[in-house]
Formats: sequence, C-alpha cells, structure tokens
Amino acid sequence: MKSLRTKIIVSFVIIVVITGATATVVGVHLIGERIIKQAQEKVGTDLNSAREIYLNEVNSIKTIVRLTAERFYIKDSLIKNDIVKLNSEIAAVRQNENLDVLTLTDNAGRVIVRSRNPALTGDSQDQCALVQKVLSEKTAFASAEIISAKELSKESADLVERAYFKFVYTPRAKPTEKTEETAGMMIKAAAPVADYNGNVLGILYGGNLINRNYKIVDKVKETVFRGQVYNGKEIGTATIFQNDHRISTNVHTRENERAIGTRLAADVYDRVLVQGQPWIERAFVVNDWYFTAYEPIKNINGRIIGILYVGLLEDKFIDMERETVWFFLSITIIGIITALGLAYFLANSITRPLRNLAQAAHKFAEGDLGQKVAVESGDEIGEVGNAFNLMVTSIKERDDKLKQQTQQVVFRSDRLAMIGQLAAGVAHEINNPLAGIRTYVKLINKEIGEMGIADGDFQKYLNLMDRETLRCSEVVRNLLNFARQTEPRLQMIDVNSVIKEALAFTEHQVILQDIKVEKNFSPLPQILADFSQLQQVFMNIIINACDAMTTKGHLSLSTHWLKTADLLEIIIQDTGSGIPADILPHIFEPFFTTKKKGTGLGLSVVYGIITQHKGTIAVDTTVGVGTTFVVKLPVNRDKAD
Ligand SMILES: Nc1ncnc2c1ncn2[C@@H]1O[C@H](COP(=O)(O)OP(=O)(O)O)[C@@H](O)[C@H]1O
Ligand SMILES: [Mg+2]
Repeated sequence: MKSLRTKIIVSFVIIVVITGATATVVGVHLIGERIIKQAQEKVGTDLNSAREIYLNEVNSIKTIVRLTAERFYIKDSLIKNDIVKLNSEIAAVRQNENLDVLTLTDNAGRVIVRSRNPALTGDSQDQCALVQKVLSEKTAFASAEIISAKELSKESADLVERAYFKFVYTPRAKPTEKTEETAGMMIKAAAPVADYNGNVLGILYGGNLINRNYKIVDKVKETVFRGQVYNGKEIGTATIFQNDHRISTNVHTRENERAIGTRLAADVYDRVLVQGQPWIERAFVVNDWYFTAYEPIKNINGRIIGILYVGLLEDKFIDMERETVWFFLSITIIGIITALGLAYFLANSITRPLRNLAQAAHKFAEGDLGQKVAVESGDEIGEVGNAFNLMVTSIKERDDKLKQQTQQVVFRSDRLAMIGQLAAGVAHEINNPLAGIRTYVKLINKEIGEMGIADGDFQKYLNLMDRETLRCSEVVRNLLNFARQTEPRLQMIDVNSVIKEALAFTEHQVILQDIKVEKNFSPLPQILADFSQLQQVFMNIIINACDAMTTKGHLSLSTHWLKTADLLEIIIQDTGSGIPADILPHIFEPFFTTKKKGTGLGLSVVYGIITQHKGTIAVDTTVGVGTTFVVKLPVNRDKAD
C-alpha cells in the first residue's frame, strides 16, 4: 500500500506531466508546422523572384545582341564586307557589354567575325539551334544552351577551363559513371542582321558562360535573401545546375568553397530533370537540409538542360523549433517542480496530523491512555483530531472507573477465599463447643429451677449466657454461609418476589428513617436458586443502604433481564454517605465494619452466597452522593446445576 503522501504527489505530477506534455506536443507541432509551412511557402515565392532575375539576364543579353545587330555600322560594314570595321565595332560592343562571346556569321551560319578570337573564322555555326531558329524566324531569340568544349575552345581556352569541372562526391546524389564535365552552359542570344529590304545578311550571336559566373545566383541571394547569415552559413542560397551538377552557386562546401561540381539529390533529379516538374519541399543540399524550390531550365528546343534552384537553410527554423520545444519543456519542468513542492507541502499538511493520529491510536491501543493529538487546523483533519481527543478522554474516564472496580473484585476473591477457609475451620471448631455450652446452660437453668434456687440475678446471667452463645452460633452460621459451607436448597424462584420479601422484612427501618423507596421490577424468568439465601443477600444490602442514609434518603431497586448474556441484573442504589476509597477494598471481608454495633459479616455473607450462585457483585460509589450495588445472577434453569 502506498502512502497517502506518495499518492497525492504522484497525482500532482501526473497531472502536470500530462498537461505539460500535451502543451509541448501540441505547441511544438503547431508552431513547427506553421514555421515550416511559412518557410517553405516563402521559398516557393523566392523561386519566382529568382526566375525573374534569371530571365532578366537572358533578356538583357538578348537586347544587347538585338540592338547591336540592328546598328547601322554593322549593317553597313556587312553590306560593304568591311571585315576590319566589323571586327573593331563588335569587339568594342563585347568589351562594353562584358560578354564572353560575340560572334557574327553570314546568312549561312559561317563565322565572319569572332570578337573573342578574331584569328579563327570561317567555321560553320549552323548546327546551333539558336542560329537555325533566327534564320527561319528572322527575329531575335535567347536561351540557355549547352556548349561543347570544342565550340568553347574556338572562342577561348579560358572558357574551356571555366566550364570544366570534376564531379565532387555528394551524399544522396544519383550514382553516375561520369567523373567530369567538359561542356558548359551559356545564356546565349542570336539576332538577324538584315539589309534595308529586310533580307538577312548575317547572324550576330553572343552570350555569357554561366559556369563559375556567379552574377545571377549572387544577385538572387542579395535581392531575395538580403545576404542573411545564420551561424556562419548563408541562409538563402541560389544555384544554377547544368544537368545535375552545380555550375554556379552560393551553396558552400564544408571547406567553405562554392560547391561547384557537387550534384543534385537523386529524388529531386527524378522529379525535375526526368519528369520536368518543379520541386517545392525540403531537400538535402550538399551537406545540409534546406527548404527548397527547383524548376527546370530549358533550351530553345524545350529540352531540359539544367535547373534553377533557391533554398533556405533549415538550421534556423530547426533551431527555432528546438527553442520552442525547450521553452515548453522548461515550463513543464518548472511546473513539475512547483507541483512537487506544492504536493509535498499539501501532502505533509494532510499526512502529518494523520500519522500523529495513527501513532497516538497505536499507543492508545497498546494501553497508553494518556494519548492526545495536537489539533492544528479547523478543517476535517482537525475535526478528526478533536474527535480522537474526545474519545480518548471518555475512554480513559470509563477505563479508570472500570479498573477500580475490577481491581477490587480480583483483590477480593483472592483474599476472601483465604479468609473464608480460615473462617470455615474456626467455625467448625467453635460450632460443637458452642452447642455444648448452650446445652449445659439449658441444663443448669433446668436444674436450678427444679432445685428452687433460681433467683433473679443468677437466672439473668444464665439467660445472658444463653443469648450471647446464641449470638456466637449466629456468627458461626454466617461465617459458614460466607465460606460456602452450607449447602443451598435450590428451587425455581422468582427473584422479584425474593426482593419484595426482603423489603418487607426491612420495612420498619425504612419507615423509621423516612426513606423513599422506588421499585422498578422487570418481568424475570424463574431461576434455580436458594430463596432464603438470596433473601438474606438483599436484606443485608438494603440494611446497609439504610444505615448509610442518616437523613432522608432515597432507595431505588430495579431488576432487569439481560437477555443476550442471559443474566438477571439487580441494582440497589442509595443516596447515602458513599464508601471512601481506602475502605472500599475491605467491605466484603468478614468482620470488617465501620459501624459501632456492626458485625462486619453482612457483605461477606452476601459475597459467599452470590459466588455460590455463580453470580457477581459490583459496587459503584461516590462519597457524599451514594452507593450502587449491582448483583448479576445467571439464569440457571437446570436442576442438575
Ligand atoms: N450502602 C452502603 N453505604 C455505605 N457504606 C456501606 C454500605 N454497605 C456497606 N458499607 C460499608 O461496608 C461495611 C461492611 O458492611 P457489612 O459487611 O454489612 O458489615 P456491617 O454492616 O456490620 O458493618 C460497613 O461497615 C460500611 O462501612
Ligand atoms: Mg451490614
């Protein structure tokens, strides 16, 4: 069985833990979901901004190329076939506009002017999709295109070098057997150069290699994410993929270098590169988890050749989530500690008085009746304490009374048995000589009568002798009664009538002393007992009662049938002097008397007879108030005894 205190404390803690845990789980879930959802939504819109920036770049190159193609000097020089002039004009534009490539072909796609590498001309560019498109549509176009290393090498060796990279191992990337990439990705625009009649004379194309050119991605980072940094890491990142490799990015490796050559996670690969769908959810990027958005980049023919990506580092949000968890957890923990303290205090204030009470009750049960508990509160517990104290007091009072009575009974029976034996012996010895003396007294009386010498005095002395001897034998008879030496004559009798007769015998004394007698007799079953012996019992008790009441008194007699115990109870109560405590233990002893003319045999005889009838007698007395004798007799209906 657990203690009440443990139960209270455990209940408190359970409540707090459940509430705390629920609040934590719900709070964290709600906040987490909201934070994450918002972050992810933001990344979705960030991708739109990134696309705008990317398309802006494409358009600006397209515009440069288109406007250059429409310039008078270019047209004029081409019509006049002034290659030197074309070279200088185009070179100036490329320089001013900061283009990697700006090349002019004739209307069959054959290179006339290659501003990046003027020495190399005459090669055909008609395999270029953009050039083909411009030739057929006669208007300007721009897009991202994959440019082979061979084509790049025609322009310049450093473009080949910028495009080239080895694949870097990336966790979660799609396995591949390729280890390097030599082609590059270029934002390329092409526009027709037409004569005044609208006939296409040539095609001007130009562009910028995206590989290791960070203009677009850094612009996205600066404008969209405002370059925010968290724990030394860029929060917002942007990347352009060529196929599945990062060729321009501000995602960094652990060595804090731009993660060029690292590869796309396999699941994103399948969705974006294979299925052509955007990916807007979390993804593993190089080394960390990001909220991400990917969408395919297509070339002029609509083929997917790369990916535009923006991503928001999860760290900040995960930390926010973790902080929220901790916040809720610490509230819960503080709650638990407070609840523990409170429960401990409360439990103590309940259990301490209870424990004291239990201890007191234990000691009380072991017989230490002096137990009381301190009542500290006016609540139910205090009430229990008060009730306990009250109970202890009344039990102690009753116990004190009972103790006195039972002690007397025990004391008496031991002592009286001894005195009884002694008395019986003495009585036997005295009985015969007494009988002899009385016989001789009678004889002498008769003799002197016959002799005629009976004179007054002599006769008087003899009569006195006879009377005193009679008294002696009376004493002896009483002694024998007390010592149970006389056999009772048993018959079925009604105890009520025994008492009534005893009262009749003592009536003269009652009337003389003007004692008020109150009788309260209940119907009693007949019992097997000695009528005259019981009569003697009640007479002795009644006479003693009358003796004790010097002035007007009140004598009450009552009988009861205690059915469950099958006992007759006779209560004789007087309003007499009461019996002082020091003489109370002696009243049943033979020859003990406090009266001038008393024999001290009355109660000893009462005791002997009651004991012989297997009954009990008890006394309850208060000095100055009165005395009550309680006689209990078993309801003995059996002749065989
Ligand atoms: N009802 C009583 N009230 C007061 N004292 C009593 C009463 N009954 C008995 N006693 C005391 O007990 C003593 C013994 O009584 P008992 O044996 O009848 O002898 P006796 O009556 O001859 O004195 C009495 O002397 C008296 O002191
Ligand atoms: Mg008496």
